Amino acid sequence: MTEHNTYASTYQRSVEDPEGFWLEAAEAIDWISKPTRALDDSNKPIYRWFPDATLNTCYNAVDRHVEAGRGDQPAIIFDSAMQKTHREITYSQLKDEVALFAGALAHAGVEKGDRVLIYMPMVPQAYVAMLATARLGAVHSVVFGGFAPSELATRIDDCQPKVIVTTSGGLEPKRKIEYIPAVEKAIELCTSAPATVIVHEREGFETSLQDAAGRAAAAGQEIAWLDWAEACSAAEPADPVEVAATDPLYILYTSGTTGTPKGVVRDNGGHAVAMIWSMKNIYDISAGETMWTASDVGWVVGHSYIVYGPLLAGATSVMYEGKPIGTPDAGAFWRVIQDSSAKVLFTAPTALRAIRKADPEADLLANYDISSLKTLFVAGERLDPETYHWASKQLGVPVVDNWWQTETGWAICANMRGLDPMNIKPGSPSVPVPGYNLETLDPFGEKVAPGEEGNLAIKLPLPPGCLPTLWGNDERFVSSYLTAFDGYYATGDSGYIDEDGYVFVMGRTDDVINVSGHRLSTGAMEQVLAAHPAVAECAVIGISDPLKGQKPAGYVVLKSGADITQEQLASELVASVRDKIGAVADFKDVQIVDALPKTRSGKILRKTMRQIAAGDDFKVPSTIEDASVLDNLMKVLRAG
Ligand code: COA
Ligand code: AMP
Repeated sequence: MTEHNTYASTYQRSVEDPEGFWLEAAEAIDWISKPTRALDDSNKPIYRWFPDATLNTCYNAVDRHVEAGRGDQPAIIFDSAMQKTHREITYSQLKDEVALFAGALAHAGVEKGDRVLIYMPMVPQAYVAMLATARLGAVHSVVFGGFAPSELATRIDDCQPKVIVTTSGGLEPKRKIEYIPAVEKAIELCTSAPATVIVHEREGFETSLQDAAGRAAAAGQEIAWLDWAEACSAAEPADPVEVAATDPLYILYTSGTTGTPKGVVRDNGGHAVAMIWSMKNIYDISAGETMWTASDVGWVVGHSYIVYGPLLAGATSVMYEGKPIGTPDAGAFWRVIQDSSAKVLFTAPTALRAIRKADPEADLLANYDISSLKTLFVAGERLDPETYHWASKQLGVPVVDNWWQTETGWAICANMRGLDPMNIKPGSPSVPVPGYNLETLDPFGEKVAPGEEGNLAIKLPLPPGCLPTLWGNDERFVSSYLTAFDGYYATGDSGYIDEDGYVFVMGRTDDVINVSGHRLSTGAMEQVLAAHPAVAECAVIGISDPLKGQKPAGYVVLKSGADITQEQLASELVASVRDKIGAVADFKDVQIVDALPKTRSGKILRKTMRQIAAGDDFKVPSTIEDASVLDNLMKVLRAG
C-alpha cells in the first residue's frame, strides 16, 4: 500500500484540500459538463458541490454500465422470502424498464424539477420508479411503507408531487399491507392532491386500481389512477435529462424533534461522487461484485446502498423482501448470502439480535455456504459489543459498525475496508470518514479533551452527498443544524473521541429515538397522545430494549374528572399511534402518572425521565418546579 492510500494521509488531504480531493473523486462520474471547481461557498452557511457541472444520475447508475459492456450482468437480485422467488434483472433489462417507465412518467406530465412520491414496499419496481424519476431530472420522495396515511399526507403536502407511484401492497409475515386504501386516505387528508397515481398491481390484494379509480371519480376528484403496465405500453422510452449537479435528486423525510418531518434534500452531483467513493473505500465493492443491504428503500440506508451506491459502482445489488427471522427461520440471511454470493451484507444490529435470540449458536449457519461473505456492515443504531462479538465469532468476518444519519446520506464514521482497514474497537464505529471534520464540543461550542463526552459536530462544509438544505426551508435547515455551534453541523448525537481517534456514539441529545433501527420522533407520538380527550399532558420517551435497541413508552397525566381506566386508555392510545403514525412505531406501553417533572417554565424534563427509566444516576435539575414528582415517577418508571 502506498503512503497516499493510508487512512491518515487520505483523511488529512480531505480536510486540508477538499477542493482537490473531491475534484479527483469526481473523475469516477460520467459528467455531461465536467466540474472545474468542487466547492461553492458563496452562500455560507449553505454550501453546494460542483456548481458548474451537469450530469444525469440515472445514466451513471444504469446506461453507462450497459455501454461499458456490463449489460448482461445482474444489476439487481430480487429475493423474496415472502413469495419464495429469486429473480435477476440485468443492467440491460433495467435500462429498458427504467427508460420506459420514465416515458410513462413524462406522459403523465412529469418534467425536470417536478416531484414524484413513491410509496412502495421492497419490490424491484421501486428501483425502476426511483431511477426513472432521476432520468427525467425530477425529484423523488420515497415514503416507507410502514407509515400510516396521515404521515403520507404530511409528506404529500410538503413536497407536492405531480405523480404518486405505488403498488397494490406489501407482504409482512403476519399480514398483507394494502397500499391503495392508504394512498386514497392520504389523498383525502392532504391539501394538495397529485394529478396522477400509477399503481403496479400485485396479485393477492383486496383493493384494485379500478376500485380506487371508481371512488375517485364518484368523489369528483380529478386524479387519474393508472395501471403501471398500461402506462408503460402507452409510452416511449425517455432519454436521460441533463441536470445541474446542484439540482435535487431526492427528498427523504426524517423524524425531527417536532411532529413535522424534515425533508432532507440530496443533490445529484455531490451524491453521485460520495456514493461511488464510499463503495470503493468504505465497503470495498467494485463493479461486478455483489452487495446486499438488508434495509428498506424507504430509509436512507436503502436509498444509498440498496439503490444508488451499488448501481453507480456497476455492482450487483440484492433486494430482499423478508425478515431476518420467521421467513421462514433465523437462517434466512445465510441463505440469501449463499444464493446471491454477496461479498458484503449491510444490516441493522437489531436484525442480528433477532437472529441471535432465535438461534443463539447460529446452528442454522451449517446449512449454508456463506464463503462469499467478506465483511458484515451494520448501521442505524449503536452496535453493542455483545452483538459485535457474537456476529464476529459466528461469521468469522470483520463486523464493521458505521455511524451516519439520513441527513448525511453516507457514513460519518467507519472502518475504511477498501482504503486502510484498521483494528476494530467494539462499541465504536471507528474513525471519521475522509471529508468529515468531526469534533466533540461542549455546550458552549468549545472542543473537549479526548475521552470526554460532548456534542458530536461536523465542521462546515459537510462533504459532498450530505444534505445541502431541507426541502423549501433553508431557514429550518439553518436553525435545526447550523446554529447550535457556529461553523458546525450539529449531528444531534453525543459521544466522545478517544486518544486513538476512535469515535464512540452514545445516543441522541434530542427527542429522536431509534426503534429497530427505525428513526422516530417522540414529539410526533406526544402529539397523538395529547389529542385524546382524557389526556391533560404527556411525555413519550425511548426506553432501552434488548431486541429493538429502544422502544417508546408514554406517560400520561389525566384531565381532572376524566373517567377512564388505565387499560382502556392504553388500548385507545396504542391504536391511535398505530393509526396516525404507523405500526412501525411499535408503541405499546402507556402508564398513567400523577404528574410529570417540569421546569418552572413548564418544560417537561424528558432527559431526567430517560435517566430514571434507564436506572442511571441523575441529578435533580435545579430548574425543577416540584422535586417530589420524581419520587412518584421513580416508582412507576423503575417498576417496568
Ligand atoms: N410496512 C408495513 N408495516 C410494517 C413494515 C412495512 N414495511 N415494516 C414493519 N411493519 C410493521 C410490522 O408488521 C409490525 O406490525 P405488528 O405490530 O402488526 O406486528 C410493526 O411494524 C413492527 O415491525 P418490526 O419493526 O419489523 O418489528 P418485529 O417485531 O415484527 O420484528 C425485527 C423485529 C428485529 C425482526 C425487525 O424489526 C427487523 O427486521 N429489523 C431490521 C430493521 C432494519 O433493517 N432497519 C434498517 C434501518 S437502516
Ligand atoms: P437515521 O437518520 O434513521 O439513519 O438515524 C440516524 C441516527 O441513528 C443517528 O443520529 C444516531 O443516533 C443513530 N445511529 C445510526 N447509526 C449509528 C451507529 N452506527 N452507532 C450509533 N448510533 C447510530
